[in-house]
Amino acid sequence: MSASGGWHAANQTEQTAWKRAAAEAAVREIPDGATVGLGTGTTAEQMLHALAGRLQAGLQIRGVATSERTQALASSLGVLMASLDEVDHLDLSFDGADEVTLPTLNLLKGRGGALLREKLVAASSRYRIILVDVTKIVPTLGVGTVIPVEVETFGWRHTAARLAAPGCRIVRRALAPATASAQEAAPFLSDGGHYILDLIYDSPPDIPTLAARIKATTGVVEHGLFLGMTERVYIGGPDGVRYADRAR
Ligand code: A5P
Repeated sequence: MSASGGWHAANQTEQTAWKRAAAEAAVREIPDGATVGLGTGTTAEQMLHALAGRLQAGLQIRGVATSERTQALASSLGVLMASLDEVDHLDLSFDGADEVTLPTLNLLKGRGGALLREKLVAASSRYRIILVDVTKIVPTLGVGTVIPVEVETFGWRHTAARLAAPGCRIVRRALAPATASAQEAAPFLSDGGHYILDLIYDSPPDIPTLAARIKATTGVVEHGLFLGMTERVYIGGPDGVRYADRAR
C-alpha cells in the first residue's frame, strides 16, 4: 500500500497522465444532446479539456457545474452552461474522487472543498461516472486521510463538539497563510459560504454508520462520503484505462 492509503504509489507526472487517460476515455462516451454534470478538481479539469476537443468536433451538450471554478473553466472552453435548477435532471455526470473502494464504488470526496455541490449534482444525475488514477483505489475509505464535512459557519464550534468522538480529531480547514509570518490562516469557505471540518480518525470508522451519524448532526450541511452514488469508475494506471461498474 502507498503512504496515501491506496494500493498503488506513483509520482505526480504519472498520476497526471493516468488521470488524463481516464478522463479522455470517459468523455468519448458522451452522447450528443446530453445534459452533463461537470465535476471539480484536477481530474475533472482534464475531463473538461477532453470535452472541449469533442465540442470542436461537433458534439452539443449542456453542462451543469459543481463549483464556481468549474463554471469558469467550462465556460471559457465553450461549454453551454446551465444552473442545476434550469434542468429537470442530468443524463450523466463526471467527477473525480479522493478515494474509491471496489466493487462498491463508494467514494470519499471533498478535499477540493466542493463536496456539497458535487453531491447535489450527483443526486440529480441518472448515470454517475467517476474518473481516477489507480492511486485513488483503496481497500477502506477514510484510513490515514481526512473525512471532509461541510458545516454552517454559525455556531460551527458547537457543531464540531457534536461531531466529536473518541479517537477522532477535528480540524477546521484553512487557506494557506499568505506569508510565512502570517499568524493564522483564514478559514476555507466553500462556494456555498460554509466551513469544512476535516475529521481524522485514529482507527478505521465503520463508514455507513459514520455517514448516517454525521448526516444527522445539527449544523452539518453535507459530508464527503458518497455511498451507492456511482455507476461507473474509469481508472487510469500503468497498464492503460479500465473501468468498473457497480453491481446492481
Ligand atoms: C472536490 O471537492 C473533490 O471532491 C475532488 O473531486 C476530489 O478531491 C478529486 O480531486 P482531484 O481530481 O484533483 O484528485
